[in-house]
Amino acid sequence: MLPLFYHIIIKLPETVRNFDQPEAESQLMKKIIFSLLFGLSLVNVASAAGDAQAGKTKSAMCAACHGTTGIGVAPNYPNLAGQHADYIVKQLKAFKDGSRQDPVMAPMAAGLSEQDMADLGAYFAEQSRSGDKAETAATGGAAAPAAPAAPAFVPDPLIGKGLYEYGDNSRTIVACINCHGKDGDSEVLVNPNLSRQHSQYIEKQLKNFRSKERVNLAMNTFAENMTDEDIANIGAYFADTKAVAHLKAKKPVAPLALAADVAAGKAKAATCTACHGADGNAMVPMYPKLAGQGAAYIAKQLADFKMGGKNGRNDPVMAPMAANLSEQDMQELASYFSAQKVSPGNGKADEAGKKLYLGGDVEREVTACVACHGIKGEGMPHAGFPAIGGQSVEYLTAQLEKFRTGERANDKNGMMRNIAMNLSKKDIAALTQYMSSLK
Ligand code: HEC
Ligand code: HEC
Ligand code: HEC
Ligand code: HEC
Repeated sequence: MLPLFYHIIIKLPETVRNFDQPEAESQLMKKIIFSLLFGLSLVNVASAAGDAQAGKTKSAMCAACHGTTGIGVAPNYPNLAGQHADYIVKQLKAFKDGSRQDPVMAPMAAGLSEQDMADLGAYFAEQSRSGDKAETAATGGAAAPAAPAAPAFVPDPLIGKGLYEYGDNSRTIVACINCHGKDGDSEVLVNPNLSRQHSQYIEKQLKNFRSKERVNLAMNTFAENMTDEDIANIGAYFADTKAVAHLKAKKPVAPLALAADVAAGKAKAATCTACHGADGNAMVPMYPKLAGQGAAYIAKQLADFKMGGKNGRNDPVMAPMAANLSEQDMQELASYFSAQKVSPGNGKADEAGKKLYLGGDVEREVTACVACHGIKGEGMPHAGFPAIGGQSVEYLTAQLEKFRTGERANDKNGMMRNIAMNLSKKDIAALTQYMSSLK
C-alpha cells in the first residue's frame, strides 16, 4: 500500500497558474481531490473528457516524432506512451502559452484546442511504453556526454539510482522518488513518469530546469545543485530502469559537510534553552519548537538569521543569537535539536485545514502542503523542507503571515511566498490548527 502522499494530486504553484481550467474540468478535479480525501484512489483518472479514439486520429500529426503509439522515434523525442494524461495536457498548454519553450513543439501546440489536448492526452496515456527498446545502460547515459571536458567520466546507473532514491543530504538534492515514484512510475497525476523515458531527453530537461530555461519552482530548486555528472548518472539509470531495478541502490556518501556532533551541540545549546526549551520543545508558543526539526533546515535558518537582509531572515531576537555562531556551531546545534523528540502541538484536528493541507485548492492557486511538508507534517529533511507537525499554532500563524506579506523572504524561489499570498486569514487559522495537531 502506497502512502496516501502518492495519491494526492500535487499542484505546484505555477502548475496552477498556467492551467486555465474550464469549468467542467475543474469540477472534475475537485471531485478527484474530494474523493481522494475520502480514501478512494482514482489515481489514473484522465483529465477533462478526453476521447482516446478521437485522440488517435488527431495524433497522426505527432507520429513523425513521437511515433504512432507514443514511442519517440529518436532519443530527443520524448516517449508519450503511458504518460499521465493530465501531465500531457498541462505540457501542451505550456507549449501553447509559451511558459514552456521549445521551437519544435510551439507550432505543434499552437493550433490545438482544449478538446484536442484532452483527446491526445487520453490516447497517449492508454498506450504501452514497454515496447520501447530504451537505450541500454551502457550506451544510454554515455550517448549524451555531459561535457566534452571530462572524457574519463563514465555515467553509472547505480549511482544514479542512489541519487534518485536517497537524494544527497550534503548538497540539498531532494530524493526524486518522493514525487516521481519507484523506478520513475509516478502515481501523482501532475508528476510525470520517468520510467523508460529516453535518457537523452531526461538529461536535457534536467539541464533546462537547472538553467531555468524550463520553469518549475520545485524542479528548478532540485536541479540547481546537480552537476553534469549527477545528471548523466540519472540519465544512465533511466536508460535501463528495468534492468537495474533489482539491484540495491547504493546510498551516496552523504555525511553532512561537517561531522556534526550531538554532544557538542547540546553544550552549545545552553544559550538557546531559555526560549526553545532544554530539549527543543519550547514552553512558550511564540517560540518555535526545534525538537525533531530537520538538521539541514535548522542550520539554514541560523545562517539566514546571521546573514539577514533581503534573502536572509530578519528577527530582532534571533539575529544577535546567530551573529557569533560559526558554521560548525550551526551544524552541531542543528544535530542536537534534530535528534530530540517533538512534543504534541497545541492545535486541534480541523477538517477545513486538513482538506487544504492534503488537497490544495486549484482555483485559488494554493499548492497542497503535503507535497513538501509530508503526510504527518514531518517535512523532507533532505530537501531542507521543514517539519511543521507538533509546532505551535501561534508560531505557524506568525510565519505564514510573514510569508504572505513577504516579510520573510528566505524561501528559495519564493516557494512559500507564492503559496501563502493566496491564503486568507481563515485558511491560515484552519491550516495552523491542523498542522500543529499532526504527529
Ligand atoms: C517535429 C517533431 C515533433 C512533432 C511533429 C511533435 N512533437 Fe512533441 N515534442 C517534440 C520535441 C523535440 C519535444 C521535446 C521538447 C523539449 O526538449 O522540451 C516534444 C515534447 C512533447 C511533449 C512533452 C513531453 C514531456 O515528457 O514533457 C508533449 C506532451 C508533446 N511533445 C506532445 C506532442 C503532440 C500531442 C504532438 C502532435 C499534436 C506533437 N508533440 C508533435 C517534437 C515533436
Ligand atoms: C516535489 C516533487 C518533485 C520532486 C522531489 C522531483 N520532481 Fe521532477 N518533476 C516534478 C514535476 C511536478 C514535474 C513537471 C514539471 C512541469 O509541469 O513542467 C517534474 C519534471 C521532471 C522532469 C521532466 C520530465 C518530462 O517528461 O519532461 C524530469 C527529468 C525530472 N522531473 C527529474 C527529477 C529528478 C532527477 C529529481 C530528483 C533530483 C526530481 N525530478 C525531483 C516534481 C518533482
Ligand atoms: C530570547 C529568546 C530566544 C533565544 C535565547 C533563542 N531564540 Fe531562536 N527563536 C526565537 C524566536 C522569537 C524565533 C522566531 C523568529 C521569527 O519569528 O522569525 C526563533 C527562531 C529560531 C529558529 C527558526 C525555527 C524555525 O522553525 O524556522 C531557529 C533554528 C532558532 N531560533 C535557533 C536558536 C538557537 C540555536 C539558539 C541558541 C543559539 C536560539 N535560537 C536562541 C527566540 C529565541
Ligand atoms: C514546494 C514546496 C512547499 C509547499 C508546497 C509548501 N511549503 Fe511550506 N515551506 C517550504 C519550504 C522550503 C520552507 C522553508 C523555507 C526556508 O526558510 O528555507 C517552508 C516553510 C513553511 C513554514 C515555516 C516553518 C518554520 O518552521 O518556520 C510554514 C508554516 C509552512 N511552510 C506552511 C505551509 C503550508 C500551510 C503550505 C500549504 C498551503 C505549504 N507550506 C506548502 C516548502 C513548501
